[in-house]
Amino acid sequence: MGQNYVNIELSKAYKLLNTGAVGIICTRSVSGNYNMAPVAWITPIEYDPVTRVLIVLDKENRTCRNILDTGVYAVAIPHIEQVEMIKSLGSTSGNSHDKISELGISTFPATEIDVLLPKGCIGYIECKIYRSIEDESVMLMLGESVHATVLESAFNRRLLAEKPEGKAVHHLGGKVFVTSSDKIY
Ligand SMILES: Cc1cc2nc3c(=O)[nH]c(=O)nc-3n(C[C@H](O)[C@H](O)[C@H](O)COP(=O)(O)O)c2cc1C
Repeated sequence: MGQNYVNIELSKAYKLLNTGAVGIICTRSVSGNYNMAPVAWITPIEYDPVTRVLIVLDKENRTCRNILDTGVYAVAIPHIEQVEMIKSLGSTSGNSHDKISELGISTFPATEIDVLLPKGCIGYIECKIYRSIEDESVMLMLGESVHATVLESAFNRRLLAEKPEGKAVHHLGGKVFVTSSDKIY
C-alpha cells in the first residue's frame, strides 16, 4: 500500500480525532424545562476515584445555558438504532422548542440529578459540573460523575462494542455516522 499523505485544512483536522461515541446531553432549565442535545466533542479526563467528563458546547446552545444555571447534566450514550433521534435533537434548539415532547421521546428520570433521560440508550452518566471555562464561542464544561448505569448485556469491564447491544454512534462529520465493527484485534 502506498504511503501518500495529503495536507488537509486545519479546520478539518479535528475529524481525525473525533471518532468517539456521540452522547446526548440531558439538561433542565431553571424554569424546569427538560432538554436534550447530541454532542460529539466529549471526552473523559480522569477516572480515579470517579470518571470526569469534558464536553465542548457552543455558548448559544440551550444545553450550555442550562448547565451553567443548574450545575448538572447527564450523558446518555445512544445505540446506533437511535441515530434518527440524534439527528432530530441536533437540528433544533431547546431555546425555541420542547424537543422531548415534539419528538415524542420516551424518558425516565435520572437517579441523582433532576434531568430526564431518553429510554433505550446503552448507558447513562450523571454529572455535576465543577468548572466551566469560556473560550471565545464555546464553553468547556468539566463534570464529575455522580451516578452511572449501563445495559448489562453491553458491558463486561468494558463496552462490548463488538456485540449488537454495544453498538454506539460515531459521528464522522456532516450526515455521516458509523458504528463499531465486530472484529476484535
Ligand atoms: C452528531 C452531532 C454532534 C454534535 N456535537 C456537538 C458538540 O460537540 N458541541 C455542540 O455545542 N454542539 C454539537 N452539536 C450541535 C447541537 O446538538 C445542536 O446545535 C443542538 O441544536 C443544540 O441544542 P440545544 O440548543 O437544545 O442545546 C452536534 C450535533 C450533532 C447532530
